[in-house]
Amino acid sequence: MKVSFKDLGLVNTREMFAKAVKGGYAIPAFNFNNMEQLQAIIQASAETRSPVILQVSKGARNYANQTLLRYMAQGAVEYAKELGWKKPQIVLHLDHGDSYEVCKSCVDFGFSSVMIDASSLPYEENVKLTRKVVNYAHKYDVTVEAELGVLAGVEDEVASEVSHYTKPEEVIDFVKKTKCDSLAISIGTSHGAYKFTPEQCTRDPKTGKLVPPPLAFDVLKAIEKKLPGFPIVLHGSSSVPQEYVDMCNQYGGNLPNAIGIPEEQLRKAAKSAVCKINIDSDSRLAMTGAIRKHFAEFPGHFDPRQYLKPAREEMKKMYTHKIINVLGSNGKAR
Ligand code: G3H
Ligand code: 13P
Ligand code: ZN
Repeated sequence: MKVSFKDLGLVNTREMFAKAVKGGYAIPAFNFNNMEQLQAIIQASAETRSPVILQVSKGARNYANQTLLRYMAQGAVEYAKELGWKKPQIVLHLDHGDSYEVCKSCVDFGFSSVMIDASSLPYEENVKLTRKVVNYAHKYDVTVEAELGVLAGVEDEVASEVSHYTKPEEVIDFVKKTKCDSLAISIGTSHGAYKFTPEQCTRDPKTGKLVPPPLAFDVLKAIEKKLPGFPIVLHGSSSVPQEYVDMCNQYGGNLPNAIGIPEEQLRKAAKSAVCKINIDSDSRLAMTGAIRKHFAEFPGHFDPRQYLKPAREEMKKMYTHKIINVLGSNGKAR
């Protein structure tokens, strides 16, 4: 039996992206795999009145089960209302969908947005597959994110040593032919907590800290010029906060040279046509750091609620910070 996202209280991305592009802010897209992450995301979004995108990856579906995650998202809408958010603006989004079948199953199952990531295919095949997904999803008013260009690192099963920036000369043709609703581009971000090697960075003479190379804002500008007002998406946008890396390492972890995207770069991107910013690794780091610290401080604890509570609080703090201080989406879903 097919379920419409509308019956679950979810929304698609169309209106929120249009407002975000116009208003010069970005919508947070946070991945979730478990209840504590979801609670933290919803608490942060409800308290700040920020629209939010809940993302489900293939890894999340394998780990937690797609059915369970969808019901959790449905529950999240009710939970948000319970927290006093009268009209929650919550999107349930498939992250990095890799086939027509998986996108279709999410549309049929109540997702309000899907990504078809055919960026590793030759251009014409990417167009063909994206168009097929759009044709199906639009029948049910589900919005579709596509991707052009390749991010360095791992995109589910697709691994690439180097990034291939999106070619601005391709974007008009791609959007026209596919009719996608938003476009993920490659301008130097990448997935995970090791986005740059120390060799790719310079050292700040004052602080001694590693400074990653800047994102390719010239490419972003050229794309914006070709597609005025069209919603652009940035994947791989965790900042890898040093405090969490330190917290992990101080309490028995081993995360040498973890480096992310500096927040000022993301702030700048959020003011442009970039209207969706994907963050997953920062949540993993906050959770792991808090749990490691708790285990070190309370070696006698063995009730998961004892160590998952501070983990949830740390994630909520991080999500709230992103919403207010980086993306600027607070107060946009009253
Ligand atoms: O795109 C990458 C996301 O961080 C999801 O990662 O496939 O390990 O859940 P995952
Ligand atoms: P990060 O690994 O930088 O958090 O990126 C997440 C992402 O792009 C999910 O699609
Ligand atoms: Zn991604």
